[in-house]
Amino acid sequence: MRTSQPQTIYLSDYKVPAYLVDTVDLRFELFEDGARVHSTLELRRNPESDETAAPLELDGDSLTLESVALNGAELAAGDYEDRGDQLVVRSVPEQFTLTVVTWIEPQNNTRLEGLYKSSGMFCTQCEAEGFRCITFFPDRPDVMARFRTRIEANKDAYPVLLSNGNDVEKGELENGRHFVTWEDPFPKPCYLFALVAGDLVEKRDTFSTCSGRDIDLRMYVEPRNAEKCDHAMDSLKRSMRWDEEVYGREYDLDIFMIVAVDDFNMGAMENKGLNIFNSSCVLASQETATDLAFQRIEAIVAHEYFHNWSGNRVTCRDWFQLSLKEGFTVFRDSQFSADMGSPTVKRIEDVTLLRTAQFAEDGGPMSHPVRPASYMEISNFYTLTIYEKGAEVVRMIHTLLGPDMFRKGSDLYFKRHDGQAVTTDDFVKAMEDASGRDLSQFRLWYEQAGTPVLAISDDFDAETGVYRLTIEQSIPDTPGQTNKKPQHIPFALGLLGQDGQPLPLQLESGDSGAPTERVLELTEAVHTFEFHGVESRPVPSLLRHFSAPVRVRYNWTREQLLFLMSHDPDGFNRWDAGQRLAVDVIQSLVNAPDDAEIDPRLVEAYRKLISDADLDQALVAKMLQLPSEAYLIELTDKADVPAIHRAREAVLRHLAGALKGELLGCYQRHQGSGPYEVTPEAIARRSLRNTALAWLLMIDDEEGRGLAVSQLNAADNMTDRMGALRALVNSGYEADRQKALDHFYDRFQDDPQVVEQWFSVQASSDQAGQLADIRKLLEHPAFDWKNPNKIRSVVGAFAGQNLAAFHKPDGSGYEFLADQVCRLDDSNPQIAARLATPLTRWRKFAPAYSAQMKSALERIRDKSGLSRDVYEVVHKSLA
Ligand code: PHE
Ligand code: ZN
Repeated sequence: MRTSQPQTIYLSDYKVPAYLVDTVDLRFELFEDGARVHSTLELRRNPESDETAAPLELDGDSLTLESVALNGAELAAGDYEDRGDQLVVRSVPEQFTLTVVTWIEPQNNTRLEGLYKSSGMFCTQCEAEGFRCITFFPDRPDVMARFRTRIEANKDAYPVLLSNGNDVEKGELENGRHFVTWEDPFPKPCYLFALVAGDLVEKRDTFSTCSGRDIDLRMYVEPRNAEKCDHAMDSLKRSMRWDEEVYGREYDLDIFMIVAVDDFNMGAMENKGLNIFNSSCVLASQETATDLAFQRIEAIVAHEYFHNWSGNRVTCRDWFQLSLKEGFTVFRDSQFSADMGSPTVKRIEDVTLLRTAQFAEDGGPMSHPVRPASYMEISNFYTLTIYEKGAEVVRMIHTLLGPDMFRKGSDLYFKRHDGQAVTTDDFVKAMEDASGRDLSQFRLWYEQAGTPVLAISDDFDAETGVYRLTIEQSIPDTPGQTNKKPQHIPFALGLLGQDGQPLPLQLESGDSGAPTERVLELTEAVHTFEFHGVESRPVPSLLRHFSAPVRVRYNWTREQLLFLMSHDPDGFNRWDAGQRLAVDVIQSLVNAPDDAEIDPRLVEAYRKLISDADLDQALVAKMLQLPSEAYLIELTDKADVPAIHRAREAVLRHLAGALKGELLGCYQRHQGSGPYEVTPEAIARRSLRNTALAWLLMIDDEEGRGLAVSQLNAADNMTDRMGALRALVNSGYEADRQKALDHFYDRFQDDPQVVEQWFSVQASSDQAGQLADIRKLLEHPAFDWKNPNKIRSVVGAFAGQNLAAFHKPDGSGYEFLADQVCRLDDSNPQIAARLATPLTRWRKFAPAYSAQMKSALERIRDKSGLSRDVYEVVHKSLA
């Protein structure tokens, strides 16, 4: 635990490492009561460093040092200093061998950083700074070394011993022990190191690369999960092929391994040749995983695989550059998912996350640029801004350059920087050099935090046939940044005529062959664009495909939105118009009298969506999702959550009541027949049916209840089972709810991934997840304070998704969350800091709520021995 105030680390203080490591030779002796790590490093002074007389300083964390030797000679106590977080050797030659032996206790490691145990197996997590919990090392990504790793353990308990690269030697040892040695030919930073030891089953497949090499693909899972690997394996092969075809990237080792572990702080990790996954992000079967999980797994498998080039072959110079690998890789995995399914639907999903959660982050106290300038704890910077906004920034480069130039740029980037640790600026430079475009102003996207606002106004001159659009950009102040400069924004748009036809966008008069969609480039604070040859006032379709991560302010009339919902050729904007309309209707009902009228045009628009079988059903499925409470809150200043919740529910009930017949028809029409498939069409069908069911149960419809109960009993897949369970849980049918939950638990209690879903369906429901219910769930035998997934599925789901229950006017939800953050801070600071996020948004809420959230935060702040992770989040959000 921390004793002094955490230090802030600044990008501007970056210095090249004083020493480089050429090779790392590791020997792990794994035992039940701990592990001994022998590390032999070949070091030399960095010729590029100007610190010629610098002492050797290696990072460490929670290590017991057993011995240090220099060039084979053991050092005496006075020759080095063990400062706990650093091992300092004052005088070292130009080039030398250092051997360090440390003792660690993986079985007691609850932080899940470094080497730890998860359901009986040993595994590691080293990004960002976990390697220093294994041995003393220059733990920074610009120190890249070749690793050789020998693992020794009891053979019965740990028959499988894995590390990065290729296995080069194995053998038996005394006392029932054995060993395997692994060698990774590619130099890598230590954050990509991995080790696994356990009793695991192996699933094998092969992939033949574009140059004809056969790659051995292996998945390692606990025996009970042997049947849940196929989907991830197929996703992996699709990813490998796609990266060859779209980016020209071939896999580089002979083996590629994936391991599933139950206890994991994040989703998955791209360790070289040995990706480690949170079980919930890799294991799937028809019986146990929902469509959403299937899609998530495909995307995460792809993401980790793509890191082999964007992250591993070319890595980050320092952690300020995190988005170099994460933003680019998220962009790559979103392109992949778009290609595997529906691009419009994928875009809708990405934008929903961005606008709901990233915009909220960017408008809150933890707002930071895509390339931050400072941090206290890097674990706190694995954020939506680094990942999602970072991906949007890369997407804008793609839009500005076009696909061909972008590919030239990425080829140049990989070629120029292969084997290097570089910066986001190097990435942009490669894009510039390949395309000849000037991206100097564009670079502000990496430096300035905050979501730009585009205020748009228009006027139409019938006499001249000129339609004029004025776009004014501004970027709000964020912590430490004011008076921001205008950014370079690609703005895609179209104009629709009164008959719904797209108009040619004539920026000069007489250009009748002009395209019907253009990407305008905004670089100034204000731009005015004139479109000629327009006969009557057009309806603008603005920011098509969400071409930039900005907020658009334009005074749409409801008529215009209805028009766009049915006519816009851009599917994304059709969806967006529907969202804007629903937001407008719901907002107008917040704090309105109970009998306030709900715009009948909304009902008619939804009626059309539900009953028109000719529409793209995948898009309809998305359009039927009302804007979430979280999104409505994000759009509101000083939000009154219970009032927003009531207004949204009122609209939902009104729609369900008015459209009951259509919903039943939709349900029947999409009744699945034939075998279960995970195709976009089948997914859309299940989504529509389950939405219809959920709506019917919102009005406690008896027919709906009958359908839900029989669907729950008859379902042959988790999507339908969960759809029915969720609908019942959220309904007023209390007896059915309890029966369904009990029955479900009885059947799936031995499957942790399903139990997590069972927890979260309750914790996120305002019917089944009131604070008293949550406390009961925490006492449930399947709940485990050491398992991040369980914590997320109960505490995280309650505070993040069950918003009306969390924001109870008496503040009990806030007090509860503060208690859990304090409790977890001692065992797992990363999870504790993430769990605190909802409280950090206190300024966003109406005064009575806000004050209580703030005092809950202050209570966390005053806890003694606060971790650096929670310290940073709490102090910054109270500042
Ligand atoms: N680098 C991982 C990814 O994005 C995420 C991660 C970060 C996992 C830190 C563990 C720890 O794929
Ligand atoms: Zn990643």
